Amino acid sequence: MKILLTAEQLAEGISRLAQRVRDDVGRRPITVVGVLTGSIVLVSDLIRRLEGPVRVSMVWASSYRGATTTPGRLELRLDLLPDLAGQEVLLVDDIFDTGRTMEALVKELRCRGAKQVRSLVLLRKQGRSEVEIKPDFVGFDIPDAFAVGYGLDYNGAWRHLPYLAELEPADIHEERDSQIDSDGDSGT
Ligand code: IMP
Ligand code: MG
Repeated sequence: MKILLTAEQLAEGISRLAQRVRDDVGRRPITVVGVLTGSIVLVSDLIRRLEGPVRVSMVWASSYRGATTTPGRLELRLDLLPDLAGQEVLLVDDIFDTGRTMEALVKELRCRGAKQVRSLVLLRKQGRSEVEIKPDFVGFDIPDAFAVGYGLDYNGAWRHLPYLAELEPADIHEERDSQIDSDGDSGT
């Protein structure tokens, strides 16, 4: 795997993002809405740098199917959301690729009476957007490659890496072999 962003670079980027959010929202309470599962590491680091009152909630979105790196049909689950009426909402996702996930979620959250919905992503892939909306806060622009680590996965693997890496073909083979081993059905 090729390292795209080290743990130190990510930490600096998140501090910058937190500062920009507070410059914009001021000391008012922020309701952070993280997008499961990719944003878990980002949300936990970001909320600890957002000085001032913060509430946290999660929604779930998925547009990937198993062992592919191309988006499929978007599925959303919003049933864990608290009442958002009058809230300053900050929607937090790991990456803005086509933008379809963020577009759909911003629309859903606006319908729930939030005072304002801002969007934040750690990463934005260059030249991939298919939507009109732009995230309000972007940590890093990255090349159009499949990224893993710091919450981002390939087929469920590598979310735990403390850095961000570019997935290479050899890594896909390694991940597939480990799946077969752990399923215990590699016995040919
Ligand atoms: P979008 O709807 O195309 O913008 O896709 C956003 C979602 O797809 C993110 O929340 C991620 O879960 C996933 N995704 C997009 N690109 C990558 C990637 O390079 N690595 C891992 N997940 C990705
Ligand atoms: Mg996601």
